[in-house]
Amino acid sequence: AASLEQRILGALRDIPDFPEPGVTFKDITPLIADAELFAEVVRAHAQPWQGSVDAVAGLEARGFIFGAAIAVHLGLGFIPVRKGGKLPGPTVGVDYALEYGTARIEIHEDAVAQGSRVLVVDDVLATGGTAAAACTLLESCGAVVPGVEILVEIEALRGRDALAGRAVRSLVTV
Ligand code: PRP
Ligand code: MG
Repeated sequence: AASLEQRILGALRDIPDFPEPGVTFKDITPLIADAELFAEVVRAHAQPWQGSVDAVAGLEARGFIFGAAIAVHLGLGFIPVRKGGKLPGPTVGVDYALEYGTARIEIHEDAVAQGSRVLVVDDVLATGGTAAAACTLLESCGAVVPGVEILVEIEALRGRDALAGRAVRSLVTV
């Protein structure tokens, strides 16, 4: 039988030159359309963290899909790390450079309980800018980030380096 890694790789679709020329977009929609594979991916992400984290943070937008499911699987609450200007209450945020362009992410200022252990989840680790910004933001609000769960790591872009020693776990590397 094909390994989970092989099945994930088979369910990702490469879209060349999206959202701009030179960028290859890793489309996860075939993976999340497969009920069995989606559930296995969520279990694989959650498994090492059972009982050792207090909340799950997902990075808008595609990190919401996996992060929220992982939170439910672990019986934990979910913290949406949103793009700038989307949250209704008082926020704290950070600006960062993306693979394409610049961005800002924000959380509600009361989203993190002091000293809580928050697992960070996103679909793709490219330059690492998004995940590093999220870790920095959550930590600045009093969280401890024991790990970062990533579906697809694009090794050539060295996102791990941007995460400066934080524990990054990716289900597949391309
Ligand atoms: C993509 C991807 C990661 C990020 C990775 O998100 O989902 O969040 O880029 O890039 P980085 O490691 O270079 O920061 P994108 O900003 O395209 O938005 P989306 O999740 O809303 O589709
Ligand atoms: Mg994203």
